[in-house]
Amino acid sequence: MHISPEILLVRYLAISRAIAGQMDFQSVLGEIAGELYMLFEHDHLDISILLPDQPGRNVSFEVGVSTKWGETADTPHLIAESPIRDLLIGKVPHFLTSDACNDSRFHFEDAFDSPIFEANLRSRVHVPLQVHGEVLGALNLSSHEIGKYGPEHVKIAQQVADLLAPYFNALIWGDQAKTAALSEGAARGREETLRLGALRLTEAMEDERKHIGMDLHDQTLADLTRILRRITGLKRRPVSVTTSLSGIAEDINTCVNELRRIIEDTKPGVMDLFGFTQAVEAQLERTVGGMVPTITTIVEDSTNSIVDEFSGSLRTALFRIVQEAINNAVRHGSPQQVVVNIEANEHDIVISVCDDGTGMETLQDGHSSGLDNMRARAAIVSANLVFERNDPDGGTRVMITVPRKHATKSGDISTRESLALEAAQ
Ligand SMILES: Nc1ncnc2c1ncn2[C@@H]1O[C@H](COP(=O)(O)OP(=O)(O)OP(=O)(O)O)[C@@H](O)[C@H]1O
Ligand SMILES: [Mg+2]
Repeated sequence: MHISPEILLVRYLAISRAIAGQMDFQSVLGEIAGELYMLFEHDHLDISILLPDQPGRNVSFEVGVSTKWGETADTPHLIAESPIRDLLIGKVPHFLTSDACNDSRFHFEDAFDSPIFEANLRSRVHVPLQVHGEVLGALNLSSHEIGKYGPEHVKIAQQVADLLAPYFNALIWGDQAKTAALSEGAARGREETLRLGALRLTEAMEDERKHIGMDLHDQTLADLTRILRRITGLKRRPVSVTTSLSGIAEDINTCVNELRRIIEDTKPGVMDLFGFTQAVEAQLERTVGGMVPTITTIVEDSTNSIVDEFSGSLRTALFRIVQEAINNAVRHGSPQQVVVNIEANEHDIVISVCDDGTGMETLQDGHSSGLDNMRARAAIVSANLVFERNDPDGGTRVMITVPRKHATKSGDISTRESLALEAAQ
């Protein structure tokens, strides 16, 4: 094969133009395959890319015949099992074979070599993709024909690989930067949620300290003073001790109940501090805690915490519905997994609680207090509540759909509805 330098230059420029603007490996390959074919006839073209964040592993992208190497592009392979591992670890400068099916260099114990046979890859050329002497992957060209390639092909393949390598290097590091930025963003988001939660907790505790002081003074201190007065009076007057004691017991009971209320009121809820999604997560964890066998829980909120923009009473109503759905799933369904999804579209917010348990069968329209309460709460906030089979996993899906216009603070629920909700809680 002889190609004049002018033609080579034209082809390389065409390849260079073709890759411009392609943002992922598959698109780059797709764009260059045609140009490369003019230089180098092939039936299969693929690249192997080493993963800097997963040492010892690589992924493949291919065009032409599809093989298992490319089918599993999302699942990194072990370099140690790659038929061209010696090239990927820099042990050999290239591979040239006239029949890969019968070339022992590609077939060793544990070699992931089945695609060579399945796709009938005979003549093959493998050259490294390198930047600054570091191998970042390989360019691999194959033909079904035996003895099709020679040293001239290796030379051309290497020149193409040298042209592509800086571009691939940029893509690899671009991907890495994107992944790092995403996880950093997520970590920052969590940190920010915790920071805000802690700030609100401090403020809430400060407020509550004042309330506790006032409540203890007005209620509990007054109760205890009255009880003390009655006991002191008992000593002086010869009255029936039983009657007096039962009165005192009643007073103490009231005092204890009041004290309980004060304590209950002072506990700032997870929802107030950390938001709806975290409250649902906490509820799920509490409900499945200690269950044998264990139940996996997932909460996915793709709405950027939209529920936290709602009024307190609406948010509480939604939380109570979700809470009962979670309790029911765990109590009655014996599921392996409970998933809560919070999603939004242009018109609605959709919260679903899905379990893969036994399913709830016939009770859709029946009467039952937990389900009735859920329906009542949903009706008050104009939400649509649906119980359905959680296909394809089996189990139950409870879907709560709230029109966005009812949910924003400006279109908030009325005072009447708010009062009804409070009564239902
Ligand atoms: N996710 C679920 N999987 C299986 N069965 C369910 C599920 N949710 C509800 N059920 C069935 O529906 C019935 C009614 O539920 P409901 O919440 O009204 O009552 P409950 O949970 O039995 O009692 P409670 O009044 O304490 O909530 C349950 O007893 C159960 O048989
Ligand atoms: Mg129930």
